[in-house]
Amino acid sequence: ERLVSDRTHILAIDQGTTSTRAIVFDIHADPVATAQREFQQHYPNPGWVEHDPEDIWRDTLATAREAIEQSGVGADAIAAIGITNQRETVVVWDRATGKPIHNAIVWQDRRTADVCTTLKEQGHEDLVRARTGLLLDPYFSGTKVAWILDHVDGARARAERGELAFGTIDCFLLWRLTDGKVHATDATNAGRTLLFDIHAQRWDEELCALIGVPTALLPEVHDNSHPFGETAPGLFGAAIPIAGMAGDQQAALLGQACFEAGMAKSTYGTGCFMLLNTGDKAILSDNRLLTTPAYRLDGRTTYALEGSIFVAGAAIKWLRDGIGVITRASQTDDLATRVPDSHGVYMVPAFVGLGAPHWDPDARGAIFGLTLGATAAHLARAALEAVGYQTRDLLTAMVDDGSTRPKVMRVDGGMAANDWLCQFLADLLEIEVERPAHLEITALGAAFLAGLCVGLWPDLDALAATRKQAKRFTPKMDAALREQLIAGWRDALARTLRHP
Ligand code: G3P
Repeated sequence: ERLVSDRTHILAIDQGTTSTRAIVFDIHADPVATAQREFQQHYPNPGWVEHDPEDIWRDTLATAREAIEQSGVGADAIAAIGITNQRETVVVWDRATGKPIHNAIVWQDRRTADVCTTLKEQGHEDLVRARTGLLLDPYFSGTKVAWILDHVDGARARAERGELAFGTIDCFLLWRLTDGKVHATDATNAGRTLLFDIHAQRWDEELCALIGVPTALLPEVHDNSHPFGETAPGLFGAAIPIAGMAGDQQAALLGQACFEAGMAKSTYGTGCFMLLNTGDKAILSDNRLLTTPAYRLDGRTTYALEGSIFVAGAAIKWLRDGIGVITRASQTDDLATRVPDSHGVYMVPAFVGLGAPHWDPDARGAIFGLTLGATAAHLARAALEAVGYQTRDLLTAMVDDGSTRPKVMRVDGGMAANDWLCQFLADLLEIEVERPAHLEITALGAAFLAGLCVGLWPDLDALAATRKQAKRFTPKMDAALREQLIAGWRDALARTLRHP
């Protein structure tokens, strides 16, 4: 389904784990205005992470208005809105009032680790993997939704009566933007809930029953490029169609124009997520990677293999906010390059357990190799290096799964601005690393989806043609040094895992 528009710009909303961004793109896919706000994280218990959905809504509206204002083109030049979001995070709200009945439980939250272990012990993981491409880990939405229903008074009964709605952040924002008229999500976000059959492309009643989520809570699922609805009058001055939605990592794959099987990208935000396009084949990993819908266009699903690392930029944020070793995130770059190496220090950033390929929700962060010579610079260096080692572990798992090693890794996200990190990645991955001119690739992917729907761009080729000059980093590290560094990482990792 397509809309036709003669308007010239797209507004992308990128609702991430720690900040919300709104970016206006022109027809050349160039960002012309950006607004951003960081918002509060809540850690009510060790291993728990929550957001206030009202903060998310307030910042979404404020940044969207700000970006439109700054762009100078006016709301009536915006052809469509594309939404992209931190995935898996769950909101349950009252359909009558639109008010959430609990804080959002964030993807990083580990409170349902025991439930997942029990389900695994009962032998359900094979079914879950076969239908959803995922694993029984608290990372995904399903067990978090069930937790809310079981811990908020009367919620389960209300859910069964159809009085409540569940949504990932895309879906919650769509509901708010349309003033409660539309309860829908897209195939990529649905694909992260543990409740969605990624092959049949529909909610799976057996899984819903197993995990304890009544189907009455669930949104409709559409293609990523689709006329989802229109903004309520009064929000922006002009009604704007919401015409694209995708989880942020899938949006980044699109924004990087990885449209062919065998192309890969790695995004460095709060976490790091590597996705390899596998075309129309949903490949089941032997190495505990995820199988996930990459995008669904005109009813056709393209799949990806995904490696998910939970902490990348979050480790830098912890150096700043948790222990005050640095005062600005960007300081890490200067600190890390001021020293020739990490002085034998290794950080295993298992702050919220470890994701792929280990899936150890009980592991916790650790720092090894401290001597009296270790300084803040070495800690910063170790935090950056950990991102490289983990990325290498993901690529190794993908290649072990039988994927051809991609020739190039396309990187993006805030941390990819760091030249030193990009070079370190190339050295460890032993392939070229390519960084696009603009790093707001996730938002661009959402803009692409919305733009396709309203005819701003006709097809994927036109999207790929907007790609600007990228910078390439070529591997140059001496093999012996690389092996020595990796051996140290493996040792630190082995000492951190709780369930090796
Ligand atoms: O699966 C979680 C992911 O979508 C979060 O992305 O950009 O907030 O690290 P980000």
